[in-house]
Amino acid sequence: FNIINASYAATAVNASQYPEGGLSEIAFIGRSNVGKSSLINSLCRQNGLARTSRTPGKTQTINYFRLTGKLPDESRLEFMLVDLPGYGYAKRAQTARSTWSKFIEEYWLKSTRLKLVCQLIDIRHPPMESDINVYQWLVEHGLNVQVVTTKADKITKGRIQQHIQVIAKGINMPQLSQDGRIITYSAVNGAGRDELLDVIRNILLK
Ligand code: GTP
Ligand code: MG
Repeated sequence: FNIINASYAATAVNASQYPEGGLSEIAFIGRSNVGKSSLINSLCRQNGLARTSRTPGKTQTINYFRLTGKLPDESRLEFMLVDLPGYGYAKRAQTARSTWSKFIEEYWLKSTRLKLVCQLIDIRHPPMESDINVYQWLVEHGLNVQVVTTKADKITKGRIQQHIQVIAKGINMPQLSQDGRIITYSAVNGAGRDELLDVIRNILLK
C-alpha cells in the first residue's frame, strides 16, 4: 500500500465546515508537541504539508488532508487524514471532556466518516493523566483506537519494548491486545510507517 498523492483539503472548527465528499477519515490525536503533524507529513512523505513547530500548540483547527493510496492490484483508495489540536498543554489534571475544546468533542461525536483514531503518545515517557483519560474516553465512545508511540528515534532500540509495556499498562489497554497493537513510530527515520499504513489500509478495506 503506497501513498501516491497527498494535498491539503480543508480546515474546520465546526460541523458545518466538515468537507463534503464522504471520504473515510483517519484522525490523529495526542498531547501538544507529541508529533501528530510530523507523523502526517512522514506518512505523506511531504514535509510542510501539515505545519509543525517546536513550540506546543501549533495546530489550532481541524485540518484535513486528502490522500490517494495505490494497492498492489493498481486500484486506488481515496481517504482523509485529519490533524487535530493537541491536548494536555495545561498542567492540571483533566478529564477527557475538559481536555479538548467543544469543537473537538463535536468532531468525535459527529464525524460519521471517522474510521480510526490514532492516539499518539511520546515513547520516552509514561502516559500522562490526560493520555489515559482520552484513551478511555475514545474507547468508551466506541471509536476504533490505534495507539502509536512517537519519537522512537530518541531512545535506544533495546528499551523500546519496555517503554511500550509501560504505556500499554498505563492507559489500561486490554491485556490480550497489549503487544502487537501499539505501533512505534519515528517521523525522523520512518520507522513504523509501513506498519501504520497497513493498519490504515485494512480499516479502509473493511
Ligand atoms: P501541536 O500541533 O502543537 O499539538 O503539536 P504536534 O503533535 O502536531 O507536534 P509536531 O508535529 O508539530 O512536532 C513537535 C516537535 O516534535 C517538532 O519539533 C518536531 O520536529 C518534533 N518531532 C515530531 N516527531 C518526531 C520524531 O519522530 N522524532 C523526533 N526526534 N522529533 C520529532
Ligand atoms: Mg500539530
